[in-house]
Amino acid sequence: MAGDAPTKTGFISGLSTKLIALIILVILAVEVVIFLPSMANARAGWLDDRLNVGAVALQVLEAVPDDMELSADLADDLLTLAGAQAIALRHGDQSRLIEREGDPMPMAAVTVDMRDRSIMSLIMGGLDTLFSSGDRTLRIVGEMGGDDDAQIEILMPEKPLRDELLTYSRNIFFLSLIIASLTAFALFFFVEFALIRPIRRMTQNIMSFREAPENASLIVAPSTRNDEIGWAERELAQMESEMFSMLRQRRHLADLGLAVAKINHDLRNTLTSAQLLSDQVATLDDPQVQRLAPRLVHTLDKAIGFAQSVLDYGRQSATPPRPQPVDLRALIEECLFDAGLAGHPNIDAVNEVPDGITVKVDPDQMARVFVNLIKNAREALETSTATDSRFRIAISFTQQNGDFAVSVTDNGPGLPPRAKQNLFVAFEGSARAGGTGLGLAIARELTEAHGGQLRYVETPKGTRFDVQLPAMRRLA
Ligand SMILES: Nc1ncnc2c1ncn2[C@@H]1O[C@H](COP(=O)(O)OP(=O)(O)OP(=O)(O)O)[C@@H](O)[C@H]1O
Ligand SMILES: [Mg+2]
Repeated sequence: MAGDAPTKTGFISGLSTKLIALIILVILAVEVVIFLPSMANARAGWLDDRLNVGAVALQVLEAVPDDMELSADLADDLLTLAGAQAIALRHGDQSRLIEREGDPMPMAAVTVDMRDRSIMSLIMGGLDTLFSSGDRTLRIVGEMGGDDDAQIEILMPEKPLRDELLTYSRNIFFLSLIIASLTAFALFFFVEFALIRPIRRMTQNIMSFREAPENASLIVAPSTRNDEIGWAERELAQMESEMFSMLRQRRHLADLGLAVAKINHDLRNTLTSAQLLSDQVATLDDPQVQRLAPRLVHTLDKAIGFAQSVLDYGRQSATPPRPQPVDLRALIEECLFDAGLAGHPNIDAVNEVPDGITVKVDPDQMARVFVNLIKNAREALETSTATDSRFRIAISFTQQNGDFAVSVTDNGPGLPPRAKQNLFVAFEGSARAGGTGLGLAIARELTEAHGGQLRYVETPKGTRFDVQLPAMRRLA
């Protein structure tokens, strides 16, 4: 069946999965932004700790009298405590040094100046440590006890700092992942139960309703929810029950129409038999019969005409137009003939449609439109008592900003008020004796099936109907 919508989408293409992926991505991106300064901070804290331990070690050194050498064991202990290879204090020109005896000093060291505490340089330093190989030596420089001149320097391997930062980063990463996953799953369950399931339920309901719109048990039961979903459900339930009653009404009407068509069909056949009989009766010599027979024949003709047009109305509405290229002028010429205007003694029929206009329409249906309009004009003129000018019916062609129109104009008495009130309403619009009131309704329906419009145009005298058709209907 056309438009079969899947009721269950694949896990990957489902809305909730997309939502989870998006949330995890967003949270991880936010975490990266938060991670950089916090990692830089952790590194600064670690380095400050080293500087503090270094400062304590230097104070121990200060306590040793100048003329006494620091014992090698104590120096080793101090350096181990600070995790350093050497600690130096520079104060102006003077400097004091704690170093391990016999330990060769590394040749190159990367300077980390902790006196520059701008966030950018701390972040850059952190990234530098993280992406380094870890086998470098650091020369950590800091202030000593609030004295601007005194500077403490610690020489140490970068590896412990890098290990610390890596562990820190790993922890943050896993923590972020846990937070992101928890948030995503919480949202997933919310979205799944609060949105996706009701939407799926509605989609399923729409699908089953579409297949059997006359089954009232398929009308969705609206929830009592107060949000947009509840609103949509209530609107859907309302729409489905309206459609249900409309369809049921239509079906009853269609059934009635079918019954009328059947009765009408039989009626027409019976009337046709009666017509044959009346034709025979008319040949009888009896003067009484001769006087009454024409009236009988006329009445029967009218009844058959009525039955036929009702049948036609039922039949025509069912077939969609089958457009093909048609020469418009020739079509109008034929319609004038069919409407009984060829060589009419009192009416001039003027075909003003220029040569060479080709339109893409259903020739039979368009002919019915024009024949109905022209016949109406003819009937109005034939019953008109006006004598001031000669009767005239003109068919003209006009271009209307891309679209085009064929107008049927007459100089007759104009539309009677009763016809105007029920214009285009089947069985209601007739204002003439013997009229069915179907001609204009049929003409409008057929024009609309071609994507066009049938318009009554007010004129000071006579009547004008415009058959407006869209530009796509014109070929040349
Ligand atoms: N050109 C016209 N001039 C004057 N009156 C018109 C004209 N065209 C239509 N009418 C009026 O409009 C009414 C409705 O027209 P419509 O063609 O729908 O029905 P009908 O001609 O009465 O019956 P049917 O066409 O089904 O045999 C007519 O009865 C007539 O009174
Ligand atoms: Mg008519």
